Amino acid sequence: MTTLTTTRGDITTEHVDVVVNAANNAMRGGGGVDGAIHRAGGPDILRDCITRFPDGLATGDAGWTTAGRLPARWVVHTVGPNHGAGQRDRGLLESCYRRSLEVADELGARSVAFPLISAGVYAWPRRQAVTVAIDTIATTPTKVEEVRLVAYDAGVHQEIASSLTMATSVRILQGVRALHRRGYHGLRVNPGVAPSGLFWRVVLTDAADPGSSVRYTSADEAKFAGGVVDAMTTPHEVAEQILRALPRLRPANDAPAYAAWFAGLLAAVEPEHALPVSSADYFDDTDGWEIGWNSGLRYPAPPLDADSSQ
Ligand code: APR
Repeated sequence: MTTLTTTRGDITTEHVDVVVNAANNAMRGGGGVDGAIHRAGGPDILRDCITRFPDGLATGDAGWTTAGRLPARWVVHTVGPNHGAGQRDRGLLESCYRRSLEVADELGARSVAFPLISAGVYAWPRRQAVTVAIDTIATTPTKVEEVRLVAYDAGVHQEIASSLTMATSVRILQGVRALHRRGYHGLRVNPGVAPSGLFWRVVLTDAADPGSSVRYTSADEAKFAGGVVDAMTTPHEVAEQILRALPRLRPANDAPAYAAWFAGLLAAVEPEHALPVSSADYFDDTDGWEIGWNSGLRYPAPPLDADSSQ
């Protein structure tokens, strides 16, 4: 079981097995967190970089060195894509987190601290950088037990903290998709925003039994359907919680159009965890649902025939 938390501070002071460095291809130090790690860790780190990475390190890859005078045992260096220089492949940024955890596993590390890779000098849009970090860490099999996202800057820390809280909402929607894939097309969603505008909420209902539903509001944070759903909960685990809450739901495979429509909705939600809103008093839902509250980004309303379980 891997926990994911965020703290605000200087990553060079973290007492973990591995501190991850946002390096560059040359692997000879630099500014930002790279400069901080080399300054605090001392010359042994640079010596190790030169010995172990004579030709540098490819973008998206990761490799370890000594941690020198840092309280950590190792530094895992990874090179993020440079958004400012036109490197915009999200897969390369995902690879930084995945490869760093693989290297941490090779080292037998049990605790890892990450900075927000590419979110500084490399100018990756912050919301995306946070979403990639959370979702890649959540979906990478690893023996690491504790992962911390360490933010130096208060604004970044706040963004990570609120994204971690809102990840519960995305994991619930991913649980619905997992059930649709298992044939439970009768599972319907109706997402919205509380009148206060402060909380997102969703009602899950069984089309064959509209009287039974399970509700979630982001005011409940990680509490859902009598259990807990957080950023690290898998869609399969969420699916099991929904089935326990809707015991009469059946895998009838009877509304493929709805399941396909929902999969498209989730594909629009996932890149930045922009939550869907089906209706609210501030917008006219004849143009469909909104992806990301107040985003103006529309997605077609559910197919009408979906609700007639033929
Ligand atoms: N502890 C934790 N986080 C830090 C620290 C620190 N001591 N210093 C900076 N950060 C944060 C930044 O605020 C940013 O959110 O780390 C994140 C990554 O920023 P950068 O260090 O600029 O890394 P990146 O955007 O990946 O750019 C890498 O910058 O520093 C150079 O040599 C590095 O060329 C490479 C490039």
